[in-house]
Amino acid sequence: MRVGVLTGGGDCPGLNAVIRAIVRKGVQQFGYEFVGFRDGWRGPLEGDTIALDVQAVRGILPRGGTILGSSRTNPLKPGDDGRSGVDRITDNMAGLGVDALIAIGGEDTLGVAAKLFEQGLNVIGIPKTIDNDLGATDYTFGFDTAVNICMEAIDRLHTTAESHHRALIVEVMGRHAGWIALHAGLAGGANVILIPERPFEINKVVAYVESRFQTRYAPIVVVAEGAHQAATDLELVDQELDSFGHVRLGGIGQHLADQIEKRTGKEARCAVLGHIQRGGTPTAYDRVLATRFGVHAIDAVHDGDFGNMVALRGTDIVRVPLAEAVRELKLVPPERYEEAEVFFGS
Ligand code: F6P
Repeated sequence: MRVGVLTGGGDCPGLNAVIRAIVRKGVQQFGYEFVGFRDGWRGPLEGDTIALDVQAVRGILPRGGTILGSSRTNPLKPGDDGRSGVDRITDNMAGLGVDALIAIGGEDTLGVAAKLFEQGLNVIGIPKTIDNDLGATDYTFGFDTAVNICMEAIDRLHTTAESHHRALIVEVMGRHAGWIALHAGLAGGANVILIPERPFEINKVVAYVESRFQTRYAPIVVVAEGAHQAATDLELVDQELDSFGHVRLGGIGQHLADQIEKRTGKEARCAVLGHIQRGGTPTAYDRVLATRFGVHAIDAVHDGDFGNMVALRGTDIVRVPLAEAVRELKLVPPERYEEAEVFFGS
């Protein structure tokens, strides 16, 4: 058996841990060979590969990023030559003698994996995203690391905000789902948390900020990049689209800082954590989850149980159909947000 592996979409800590687990178990227990496809779907689309054996995965467990590279290439978009991406991938896999493919990615990468399975390819999916917004799994690896990075940043911002009697706005990732903002805000003791699922009213945010200024402490506002004002639509600073048609977000943190400064008369600064949240070494939780996903994914290949994604349910790793896995995003439910609201303001 020859198995191809690719990592697609935004990278996240734990990708190398998954790759290592797949290869170690696949080679040592099943005697499989592996082919690494470079840069997400671009690899199988163009037949661009790297050697992937036990030697290649030594020492990568604690490393962030992905040794395979990643991209947001969408093979379902028609190519310049008019040939369908699915045909090109099928031909390239056959040419390389690849019998099965493990795709590690978020909703976009796994959406393509689901389509390829429908077209007859042997595909297994592994969920990955710092956003933790994939419906079929309780957690994705990368999320815990991202939350810890944000929490540490918030801890640091508390002390500088207090010294200068300023409001500090921390913009974190989260396009549609506010999981990072919610968890990091709770863990870091934020005074306001704003998420895409709950359009906010600027007057309420300002009231929370002002009540925090009444104490000897300074307000910290954590805002997800996809959060927006109720009724009035925030003008996005940058409307560029990626190849899956998503708007590249940015600017909500600075917009809030400007509004807060104008309305409170107090200084407000914005810190955008950006890709810092996705870089560097994974936490122990993410290394373990990623390793378990890798082990269970190669088991699914061995069982010939294609068209599935491995998922975490409670403490168990289960298999769910890819089509089901990409059907719905997992958003923050109202009751989870209300738990956090108790801590808003002073
Ligand atoms: O999907 C992961 C993610 O980090 C999102 O939180 C964020 O909106 C997006 O990727 C950023 O994408 P890029 O790396 O292309 O700027």
